[in-house]
Amino acid sequence: MFAVQFDRFGGPEVLAIGPAADPHPGPGEVRINVRTVGVSPVDIALRAGASPSRDSLALPHIPGVDAAGVIDEVGAGVDGFSAGDEVFGSVDVARLGGASAQFAVLAFWAAKPASMSWEEAGAAGTSVETATRALDLLGVGEGTTLLIDGAAGGVGSVAVQLATARGARVIGTARPESHTFLAGLGAIPVAYGPGLAERVRALGAGPVGLALDVAGAGALEELIALTGGPAAVVTLADFTGPGRGVRLSRGQYGGEPDGRHGLAAAAALSSRGRFRVPVREVFPAARAAEAHAAAIRGPRQGKIVIDLAGMPGGD
Ligand SMILES: NC(=O)c1ccc[n+]([C@@H]2O[C@H](COP(=O)([O-])OP(=O)(O)OC[C@H]3O[C@@H](n4cnc5c(N)ncnc54)[C@H](OP(=O)(O)O)[C@@H]3O)[C@@H](O)[C@H]2O)c1
Repeated sequence: MFAVQFDRFGGPEVLAIGPAADPHPGPGEVRINVRTVGVSPVDIALRAGASPSRDSLALPHIPGVDAAGVIDEVGAGVDGFSAGDEVFGSVDVARLGGASAQFAVLAFWAAKPASMSWEEAGAAGTSVETATRALDLLGVGEGTTLLIDGAAGGVGSVAVQLATARGARVIGTARPESHTFLAGLGAIPVAYGPGLAERVRALGAGPVGLALDVAGAGALEELIALTGGPAAVVTLADFTGPGRGVRLSRGQYGGEPDGRHGLAAAAALSSRGRFRVPVREVFPAARAAEAHAAAIRGPRQGKIVIDLAGMPGGD
C-alpha cells in the first residue's frame, strides 16, 4: 500500500508518500480502507521527535491516530461489524503505526452515521474518546457549570458539545477571534490567559463547579480558585497537575477507565443533529505537510483533516 510517512524527525517537510507494508487486524480489531485522517498534536510531536516515545518509534513512521473508512478485514472476536461497514475510530499507534495510509487497523471504532461527513468522522476518534473520559472523570451532568480551558481546539470543541448534551452549562476559553465559533457550539466564551478567574467571575454566570484543563497552558491555580479545590479539576495536558492535587488523565492506551463508549454516543447525537466535529480545513494526502503546518497555527478551531482519496496508489 501507499502511506504518508516520515523516515526522519523534523518539520512538516519530512512527510512524504511512499510504499509501506499492509497492516492486518489482530483479535478485536478491524482493518479499514481509509478515507480520511485527522491531524492531532501527538502526530506533530511524533514527527518533530518531541515525543517521549521518540526512541522507541520505528522509522519510517506513518502518522495519524484517528481515521474513518470502510471495513475490509475483521479480526477474530469482533461482533456486529463486517466488511463494507463505514466506521470511524482510532488506531493503537504504539503497536501498529498510524492511519495516513490506504489501509489502517482500528483499535476502537463506531459505525459512521450518515449525518457525519467523512471529514468529521476521520477527525473524531481521539477527541471524542478523550472528552468523554474527562467528562466521566469529572462527573459532568445535569445542572453542572463546567469551565473548559482551551475550548475551541480539537478536544475542547467536542467536550463543549458533549458536556452541553449532558445538561451542563459550559464556559469555554478561546482567543477573542474564536468567541463566535465557541458560542455556536453552545459555550459562554471568555478569553484565555492570565486573569481568567477574574474574567469568569465578571461574566456573572454563577459559581463554576468543575473545570477541565485541555490546553495545559498554566491555568491550573486559577481553575482551582474558581472551583474551590483541586478535586473539581481534571487536566489533559499539564504534568504539574498531580503535584497540585489535580487529576491528570493521560490517554486511551494507559489502562485507566477510558472513553471509547463515547464514539457510539457521539454518533447517536450526530444523527439527532446535536453534535458535529468542527473541521477547519481539509488537505489532500499530497499536501500532508501543509496539513501539519496548519494544525499548529492559531486560531485553532476544531480539526485539520487529510483526505486520502487522491493518494497515488489509491483507488
Ligand atoms: N491526555 C490525553 O488523553 C490527551 C488526548 C488528546 C489530546 N491531549 C492534549 O490536549 C491538548 C489539546 O489537544 P487538542 O487536540 O485540543 O489541541 P488543538 O486542537 O491544537 O487545540 C488547542 C487549543 O488550545 C488553545 N490555546 C492556546 N493557548 C492557550 C492558552 N494559553 N490558554 C488556553 N487555551 C489555549 C488554542 O487556541 P488558539 O489556537 O486560538 O491559540 C486551541 O484552540 C494537547 O496538548 C494534546 O496533546 C491529551
